Amino acid sequence: MGDSFFSEYFYRVLHISAIIFFFAGFGGAMLSEKDSKLNKIITGIASLFILVGGMGLILTALGIRHTESWPGFLHAKVTIWAILTIGAPILAKRLKKGRVAVFYGFLILGVMAVYLAVNKPF
Ligand code: HEM
Repeated sequence: MGDSFFSEYFYRVLHISAIIFFFAGFGGAMLSEKDSKLNKIITGIASLFILVGGMGLILTALGIRHTESWPGFLHAKVTIWAILTIGAPILAKRLKKGRVAVFYGFLILGVMAVYLAVNKPF
């Protein structure tokens, strides 16, 4: 499909690997007493790589170019990504009660993004 310097396989591995790093890092921050600076940095970079991988997959897996419009599920995935990326550091720092419940709630949001990627319902 769309021509790109990196292959579809590269972007797919990057996308899914970054998702592992993001949720592991966020889980660590939410479920431990004190977050470390290094973990904050790794979680932030992982979030960026989720987006980079996703953008690469839009071209290489779906063959959608810059000038073409996106199917609805991609807008939903970017929205989920933004909620996770903005919400994670704020909640990790400020949330006092219900940290475990909110963490698993965020995992459910991630599961919704997986569902959208696999089924593309709209
Ligand atoms: C935390 C958020 C996200 C999660 C958990 C997630 C999850 C996944 C997973 C598991 C796949 C692989 C599906 C498969 O190989 O069958 C995938 C593919 C994909 N994702 Fe994401 N994703 C997220 C965010 C994004 C974002 C922000 C974008 C767009 C910029 C995006 C665009 C794509 C595309 C285009 C594919 C390829 C679909 C295909 O091969 O048919 N994803 N995503």
